[in-house]
Amino acid sequence: MVSQLKRSAPSHLSFPRVRGLGGRPPRAGVGGQAPLLKPTLKMGTPATPARREKKFPGMMKAGQRSEAGVGSQFPKRFSGRDVMRTLGTSLTPGQPDRHTQPSHPIVTVDRSMSNAKARDVQVFPLREGTIVLRSRTWDRLKFEIEYALQRGTTANTYLIQADRTALIDPPGETFTTIFLDTLQQRFDLSQLDYLILGHVNPNRIATLTRLLELAPQVQIVCSNPAAIALRNADNIASLTALPEQPLNLQVVRGDDGLDLGQGHLLQFILTPTPRWPDELCTYDPQSCLLFTDKFFGAHRCGDQVFDEGWSSLAEDRRYYFDCLHAAQANQVLSALDKLEALDVYAYAPAHGPLVRYGLTELTHAYRHWSVAQQAQELTVALIYASAYGNTATLAQAIARGLTRAGVNVESINCEFAEPTEIQAALAKSAGFIIGSPTLGGHVPTPIQTALGIVLSTVATDKLAGVFGSFGWSGEAVDIIEGKLRDAGYRFGFDPIRVKFKPTDADLQICEEVGVDFAQALKRSRKAEARKVVSGLQQSQAARTEQAVGRIVGSLCVVAAKRGDMESAMLASWVSQATFTPPGLTVAVAKDRAIESLMHSGDVFVLNILAEGKPLQRHFMKPFQPGEDRFAGLETTLAENGCRVLNDALAYLECTVQNRMECGDHWLVYATVDRGKVLDASGQTAVHHRKSGSHY
Ligand SMILES: Cc1cc2nc3c(=O)[nH]c(=O)nc-3n(C[C@H](O)[C@H](O)[C@H](O)COP(=O)(O)O)c2cc1C
Repeated sequence: MVSQLKRSAPSHLSFPRVRGLGGRPPRAGVGGQAPLLKPTLKMGTPATPARREKKFPGMMKAGQRSEAGVGSQFPKRFSGRDVMRTLGTSLTPGQPDRHTQPSHPIVTVDRSMSNAKARDVQVFPLREGTIVLRSRTWDRLKFEIEYALQRGTTANTYLIQADRTALIDPPGETFTTIFLDTLQQRFDLSQLDYLILGHVNPNRIATLTRLLELAPQVQIVCSNPAAIALRNADNIASLTALPEQPLNLQVVRGDDGLDLGQGHLLQFILTPTPRWPDELCTYDPQSCLLFTDKFFGAHRCGDQVFDEGWSSLAEDRRYYFDCLHAAQANQVLSALDKLEALDVYAYAPAHGPLVRYGLTELTHAYRHWSVAQQAQELTVALIYASAYGNTATLAQAIARGLTRAGVNVESINCEFAEPTEIQAALAKSAGFIIGSPTLGGHVPTPIQTALGIVLSTVATDKLAGVFGSFGWSGEAVDIIEGKLRDAGYRFGFDPIRVKFKPTDADLQICEEVGVDFAQALKRSRKAEARKVVSGLQQSQAARTEQAVGRIVGSLCVVAAKRGDMESAMLASWVSQATFTPPGLTVAVAKDRAIESLMHSGDVFVLNILAEGKPLQRHFMKPFQPGEDRFAGLETTLAENGCRVLNDALAYLECTVQNRMECGDHWLVYATVDRGKVLDASGQTAVHHRKSGSHY
């Protein structure tokens, strides 16, 4: 079984050995992308309470009473009445809120962009002296699987103005100029007191640097891990507005509050996760807005500020959860527990529309999806560290493949995990995968520790995997692989090595590798289970399976394409579903590579096969992750850009309308845009089976 999974690393993932360079950085021009943050593999010294109070007079411990002030400051473009209008509105889910519909959208456009739709910053008053500035990207932002649906995204920044003012989460560097220009048109930055960071990422450093130049008085409020990351920023000198002056950082403990006056006594809730160990949510009891950072978001760009008609966002929200949170279900549940007691008007996330109308449903869905993850029969421990985020991006794609294939993932960010945690995760896992960057020619210390735990505690019959990003020499993956191989572990896939930032193709391969790893585990579990089922149970199950197997379907090949990503699969669970409009359903297993290209709005071609043609055999063989499924076949492109097999009986060009989750499959409903019979005298190939337990 393992040998089936083994494969050579695709050429674009191969690791170029630079003789003599070893762990030393290459000369200029060799290294590619320059990292922004130093590795944060050591802990910094948190501010003492006394120092905190001196530097940060507005900061309060929970339980201290705030001084309620009067006369809030509103942004120049909005009167107090504009903002207060959004108060006290009572709406039912799905009902549009006329106060949140921007009748005159206030938008600043980046004219330097030559794209079809330029990036812009949309400003909108929320409630109680709070505005949102939504930095909008209409096309795909970057190569991370979370953006793969290509519906753009927004980076939401919030400004709260009371006696003191706080800005929450400025956007990344593609928005630095346009965002700060927009902000300054409405607000005098010399009046800004606090900058609250839900988390720190390298992408934000450029905006922070400019912001601190414009507002040197500002105090940065963040969690301890975020403070460490900031203190270790390579360009820390440019982050401090005054030379030689340390960053004006205020580290938040779990029970801290921050009094902005006029009832805005902000409460901080630490919600660390493996992916964002520094994550911090902020609650404003005056507006009842909960600033949720990475929770409850969606990568969807549009004019809508709130989630009116929230069910239309369901697919985006689920996809966002699956990519970002499914592999950290334990921590999501802990965060939900912490946030549960708050009286929330709306979630104000870092991305996409605010959650107002679908708040209850989305909260329940997060809990339900997390519990469902934990309930999976098999778990994989995904152990990694990442100084600059590249290995973490690979980990996310592998995790997506694993969870898509119905396996629970316990993500462990080694830098922030205790050895006992790593040991516990490994003990309950059927397999483990280790991801490591190469730093200074070595495996970073936290990964070395984790590897030690694996070697001393994990049985060698558990399936293993190794991956990592590197810059020029890439020793880490080799070292880990070597030690595991010497100890006698079997590998679920050949080690993955990616130079610096992964490409789209790298991520597609990682996702497929995750699926394959999960399938291998499930196959061996199924074989074990078969041995323990009694003869009586087996014969009843077999009778049912045989009966289900009498359902027949026509044999087809689904060919899908989105951007540079393309895939195909043999399908017989296909059925016409509607006359008007002409429509059909295809059942797509959750662990199929093509599944990620079959979301609402995606297009595909359904190639209906003719009897007696060899196409079926071609598509029945297993494909390697990233392998060209059409190699050696004659194809032409349909109008929608997907492949038509020249030897098919007929083909239909389709657009996915929606999907229904059904056990281990998605039932995809698509409308037919156009179609053609290619062989009028041929017969449709029909798939007869003996059992309903396979296709
Ligand atoms: C301080 C430092 C040392 C590094 N040392 C190496 C090295 O010895 N060999 C190598 O291949 N890459 C080296 N790199 C490049 C990283 O491996 C590369 O940036 C990788 O993408 C980091 O992965 P991460 O984002 O998961 O941390 C180094 C980078 C930094 C900043």
